Amino acid sequence: MWLLQPLLLALVVCTVLRSTIGSASGAASPTGGQLRRIWLQDHCTANICTGVEIGRNDYVILSQAPIAKQLMLTFINSSIAKIPHLMFDTFPDLQLLRMENCTLETFEKPQFEGASNLMSLFLGHNRLKDIPKNIFLGADNLATLHLENNLLKVLHNHSFHALKELKDLSLADNQLEQLPLGVFAGLRKLLDLNLAGNRLRALPRGIFDKNLNMTRLSLARNLLATFESELLKLQPRLTLLDISGNILHELTLNFSLLEQVLAHSCDLRRLTVYGVIKELDLHNNSLRELPHIPLASNVTSLDLSQNPLGNLQGNPLRRFTALLRLNLSATNTNELAEGLFKKQTHLQMLDISANTIYSLKITLFDSLKALQYFYFQQNNWNCDFLQLLMSSFVKKRDISFMEDLTAPELVDDYVDGIACWYESDKISKKCDGANSEAALELSIVRNEIKAFTELVEKKFVRVYRMLEEMKLKL
Ligand SMILES: *[C@@H]1O[C@H](CO)[C@@H](O)[C@H](O)[C@H]1NC(C)=O
Ligand SMILES: *[C@@H]1O[C@H](CO)[C@@H](O)[C@H](O)[C@H]1NC(C)=O
Ligand SMILES: *[C@@H]1O[C@H](CO)[C@@H](O)[C@H](O)[C@H]1NC(C)=O
Ligand SMILES: *[C@@H]1O[C@H](CO)[C@@H](O)[C@H](O)[C@H]1NC(C)=O
Ligand SMILES: *[C@@H]1O[C@H](CO)[C@@H](O)[C@H](O)[C@H]1NC(C)=O
Ligand SMILES: *[C@@H]1O[C@H](CO)[C@@H](O)[C@H](O)[C@H]1NC(C)=O
Ligand SMILES: *[C@@H]1O[C@H](CO)[C@@H](O)[C@H](O)[C@H]1NC(C)=O
Ligand SMILES: *[C@@H]1O[C@H](CO)[C@@H](O)[C@H](O)[C@H]1NC(C)=O
Repeated sequence: MWLLQPLLLALVVCTVLRSTIGSASGAASPTGGQLRRIWLQDHCTANICTGVEIGRNDYVILSQAPIAKQLMLTFINSSIAKIPHLMFDTFPDLQLLRMENCTLETFEKPQFEGASNLMSLFLGHNRLKDIPKNIFLGADNLATLHLENNLLKVLHNHSFHALKELKDLSLADNQLEQLPLGVFAGLRKLLDLNLAGNRLRALPRGIFDKNLNMTRLSLARNLLATFESELLKLQPRLTLLDISGNILHELTLNFSLLEQVLAHSCDLRRLTVYGVIKELDLHNNSLRELPHIPLASNVTSLDLSQNPLGNLQGNPLRRFTALLRLNLSATNTNELAEGLFKKQTHLQMLDISANTIYSLKITLFDSLKALQYFYFQQNNWNCDFLQLLMSSFVKKRDISFMEDLTAPELVDDYVDGIACWYESDKISKKCDGANSEAALELSIVRNEIKAFTELVEKKFVRVYRMLEEMKLKL
């Protein structure tokens, strides 16, 4: 009796083969498309498959018999309109399937029957328009699903139904405009959700209420005009929130404890942070003053670069006593008040590059006992002061710094690779560094010229002559 089974199987295979051969003349498959055989063994070596072509209407047979112990498959240089129907029958042990950039267009139902070993599925950079309801039935153990860079416009409540083991979901860079309230409700184990680069204007209240273990959420580069911390009030393990690249103007965050918030490029004018947030990336906003943070003493990293802060007045850093990293690059600063860093005794990294600073009180650095990295290039340094800064602080304490890229034609001199300028006459020498009006004016002109030359680098020589003329006039 048990001998009969292989015999029967062989018969079935033969029949299938015959009809495949017959398909050269255009035999129709059970689904109405073209019946083809693509022996994947011929296309794949060491888990990599190349040059596989499967059309939208093809019904393909991948192998004569199931291929056991194939754990991973990656398709490259292939054009596959849909995942072959028999994929998981042919490769029952498959744990990882990578089919990125394969012009994948559509799913076939049922698509993931028998895919209970599948743990990672990478379908990014394709042309998927829809995630049909219940399509993932059968992929019970899927933990990672990447669908970034497709053409998804809408999702359904049941698009991700059955993915109860899913931990990592990326829907980045699609065209999602809104999300149904229940879309993530079955994903109880979700840790990492990436919705960056879509067209979301708002999120339904309660959308994450079943994702209690979520630790990382990106909503970057959407069209959100407001953000409510309330959305994430049930996620005690949240460590990272990225809302960069939404135009928010004003923002209030209220989390009991959050490791890291990225809110750069939001045109923020005002920011209030309640609760503990340890790292804040606020670069490229429109802040004219520091964010209001009652628990400032818990902030360890603050990036305020590319904000029009101007000269910080009134000792605004006094409560940021645990800062390790502070970026004040490109903040329209031309002077730093003497006691500004008095409380930053733990600071390890300070960036004041790309400003118009000419000179400082050297005592400013007395409190920075832990500093290891100090970036101050691209300023209007006075050469004499820069010598002092180098010898009495930077080199003395073996602090790392970065050299300047300013074109030599524009510079009087370099001190250890940092550009600087000498005062042109005795009058300005008598004046006290940054307070000298003439020096300030000169530094403004220099900066405008620097910006200008970045655009038209080839015209250095002419610009240099202009600078010399300006100097003479001053
Ligand atoms: C994929 O195609 C590119 C360009 O046609 C080629 O350079 C590359 O070698 C191909 N990769 C494989 C593994 O065939
Ligand atoms: C996708 O593949 C095409 C050619 O097959 C290649 O030119 C392109 O760079 C690839 N894109 C990505 C994102 O891999
Ligand atoms: C989606 O699910 C939510 C609850 O999770 C429900 O309130 C809503 O009505 C559902 N929407 C649709 C279109 O079924
Ligand atoms: C959430 O995480 C905790 C700790 O890692 C774990 O014990 C719990 O089972 C997780 N809950 C779910 C639904 O995965
Ligand atoms: C912050 O949220 C907590 C609980 O979610 C709430 O009790 C508190 O009033 C909020 N604080 C502010 C200043 O809104
Ligand atoms: C800075 O933010 C603005 C939005 O305020 C954005 O348009 C721009 O692309 C950002 N620039 C960079 C370099 O990220
Ligand atoms: C916040 O800072 C205070 C002291 O300033 C400290 O006692 C507390 O443990 C810190 N909280 C967190 C969550 O780091
Ligand atoms: C400070 O910010 C500028 C501009 O955003 C950036 O280019 C620079 O790398 C940052 N500095 C450090 C040390 O990360």
